[in-house]
Amino acid sequence: MRNRLAGLIRPETGRCLMLAVDHGYFQGPTTGLERPGEAIELLAEYADSLMLTRGVLRNVVDPQRRVPIVLRVSGGTSILRDDLSNEDLTVSMEDALRLNASCLAISIFVGSASERTSLTNLAKLCDRGQKYGVPILAVTAVGREMARDARYLSLACRIAAELGAQVVKTYYCEEFEKVVNSCPVPVVIAGGKKIEERAAIELAYRAISAGAVGVDMGRNIFQSKWPVSMIRTVRSIVHEGKSDAEAWELFQELKG
Ligand code: R5P
Repeated sequence: MRNRLAGLIRPETGRCLMLAVDHGYFQGPTTGLERPGEAIELLAEYADSLMLTRGVLRNVVDPQRRVPIVLRVSGGTSILRDDLSNEDLTVSMEDALRLNASCLAISIFVGSASERTSLTNLAKLCDRGQKYGVPILAVTAVGREMARDARYLSLACRIAAELGAQVVKTYYCEEFEKVVNSCPVPVVIAGGKKIEERAAIELAYRAISAGAVGVDMGRNIFQSKWPVSMIRTVRSIVHEGKSDAEAWELFQELKG
C-alpha cells in the first residue's frame, strides 16, 4: 500500500500532480480527449500519475511507459441522463491488479439519491484495497443540486476518509483550509471546467497553499491552447513551491 501510494504522492515533496483523462467514462469523446492517446503522449511525462479508465489504458497507453496509474473503477451512467450519481463499480480488483494500477478511483455522491449506494461501494472497495494493498481515491462528485462550499465538501471528504479512502479528491472552495483540516487523509483538488489559464494557475496555488497535497487536473490542462505549458506551470506550483505570480511568469515564458 505504501509503495503504491509513493507512486502517487512523491515522497521527495509530499505532493502530487495527477493528470486526469478519465472524463470519457461518462462524457464520451470529451473536448481535448477525442484521441486520448495523443493527449497522453504529449503530457504524461510531466505528470506523476495518470487517472484514466481501463479501456484507455489498454488501448492507447504504451505498456512500456513507466507512469503510475490511478484507475477509474466507478461508472455506469452517461451525460444523456439526469441520474449521473447512479454509479456502480465497473472494474474487478483482479483486473485492476492485472493492469498494475497504483490506486483505484471511485466517485461518491453525498446528498444525492444514490448517496447510500456510492458510499457502500466505496466501503466495499476499501475492503478489497486493504486485502491487496491498493489505495483508494474517493472522488467527491458534485451534482447540480449540491453546493460547492466548505461545509458540503468537508462533509463529503470526511465521510470518504471515515469509510476508508486513503486519498480524497474534491473541488477547491472558499475556506478550503476547513476541508483539509477536517479530513484525516491527503486531499487533492480537481481542476473543474476550463477557465482562463491565469485563473486555473491561481486555483492550483490557492489549493496547495491551503493544504492540498496536489492536484488531479484535466480540462484546464488538456483543453488549454498551451497544454504542455500549463502542466509544467502547475507542476512548478505543486513540486517547486512557486507562487501564483511566479508560476504565471513561468507560463508566459513557456508559452512563448
Ligand atoms: C470527473 O469526473 C473526473 O473524475 C475528472 O478526473 C475530474 O473531474 C478532474 O478533471 P478536471 O480537472 O477536468 O475537473
